[in-house]
Amino acid sequence: MITDDMNNRFTRRAAMQAIGAGTSLLPLSAQVLNAPPAPPAGVPEPKGPTTSTPEDRERRLQWWREARFGMFIHWGLYSVHGRHEWVMENEGIPIAEYEQGAKRFNPEPNAARAWAKLAKTAGMKYMVMTTKHHEGFCLFDSKLTNYTAPRTACGRDLVQEYVDAARAEGMRVGFYYSLMDWHHPDGALAATDEAARRRFVDYIHGQVRELCTNYGKVDILWYDVNWPLKPDTWEAVKLNTMVRKLQPDILINNRTGLPEDFTTPEQRIQASAEPWESCMTMNDSWGYQKADDNWKTSKNIVRNLIRCTRDNGNYLLNIGPKPDGSIPAESVNILTGVGRWMDTHAELIHAPVSVCKVKRGQFSDFIERGNKLYIMIQFWPGSEVSIGGLKTKAVSAKLYGSSTPVKFDQDDFRLRFTGLPATAPNPMISVLEVEFDAPPEQDNIGVRRNRKRGLVGV
Ligand code: GLC
Repeated sequence: MITDDMNNRFTRRAAMQAIGAGTSLLPLSAQVLNAPPAPPAGVPEPKGPTTSTPEDRERRLQWWREARFGMFIHWGLYSVHGRHEWVMENEGIPIAEYEQGAKRFNPEPNAARAWAKLAKTAGMKYMVMTTKHHEGFCLFDSKLTNYTAPRTACGRDLVQEYVDAARAEGMRVGFYYSLMDWHHPDGALAATDEAARRRFVDYIHGQVRELCTNYGKVDILWYDVNWPLKPDTWEAVKLNTMVRKLQPDILINNRTGLPEDFTTPEQRIQASAEPWESCMTMNDSWGYQKADDNWKTSKNIVRNLIRCTRDNGNYLLNIGPKPDGSIPAESVNILTGVGRWMDTHAELIHAPVSVCKVKRGQFSDFIERGNKLYIMIQFWPGSEVSIGGLKTKAVSAKLYGSSTPVKFDQDDFRLRFTGLPATAPNPMISVLEVEFDAPPEQDNIGVRRNRKRGLVGV
């Protein structure tokens, strides 16, 4: 697995060296050749995009920033085993034995329609499906291998079904594609044998070309695990330059090892200066794992979504369908609960935000938009709600979704709202909408530092 740290170390200069910049052997974009020189030692390197410009990235990112919330789908032969998508490697299953799973992988036609409908119900705006995971089995029709859904028992192109289903519900379409391949004969040998590397890289580039050519507009290319090669030996600049030529509006993640359009913190929410998307599971597995009962609640999910929004990132939340394509009941329930909250709060999530400077509150998170602060209260304290350390003057307040003003008073240390309902207005997360006379600021330790000490009136 590549880490953000490794991405950060792969610089434009390294990218140039990797492909022999200055020669005209490769179809490099002008942007890469004209990339600014690396800054002096000690100054942080500019990061992505490697094969585009920051301005073009902003243009391409516009829908994605507002979409905010997407559905990740892990589906493949591992779903037949029902013991996590790493079952082949973690249980050391022989390849010939594992391949037999293809005979039993014959999902109901158009299972993806239910995924897309559920995504819409939950307030999601895009989907990203595993077209090929580490196991090497392709859900799409490839001329480069027979190890595909269309050429085995299933007999259908499951990527085409997915694309059609997603589009029918107005979802943007993303393709996950694993560079690491446990099935391809050169998938490990490529690291030590140049002829094997050549064959393997041609195979991978060829499949990415197929994915970017045969399914109409693709909105996201979501690479995973670049083992056993490095961006230079993957020829990742050449690969992504090809992708951008075939799909000029596409967003590409960072997991070839090249910084591109967005970073991909996994199972954690971690803001960065780059556009970022946290990907997470609802239990502990990406692929279907029958016995994994460590489910998050709908409230956990909404809270995570709010935290991603607070720091202006995206949230890609996974389902692991069963081999027949049906979604585990727990995931349906969780996402339906998320959808109930989103029915009345989606506009808080889908509109652009300013990165929130107000962070401190023991029962709430915050979303900031211009002069407005949305206090997202998960543990409703009762008829009074207070926030400490706000430096900006509040001018009005109401419960989100209502027009009745909420009373408040404010001094140097406390902004206090009174006369609120004793029980939470929303069973999941209730929102107070407060308007200030300027973008709200909080002094995180102002209350501790500046308040007069001593006994007062006791
Ligand atoms: C990891 C896992 C993989 C999963 C991915 C999702 O890299 O190897 O199974 O698909 O995370 O981000």
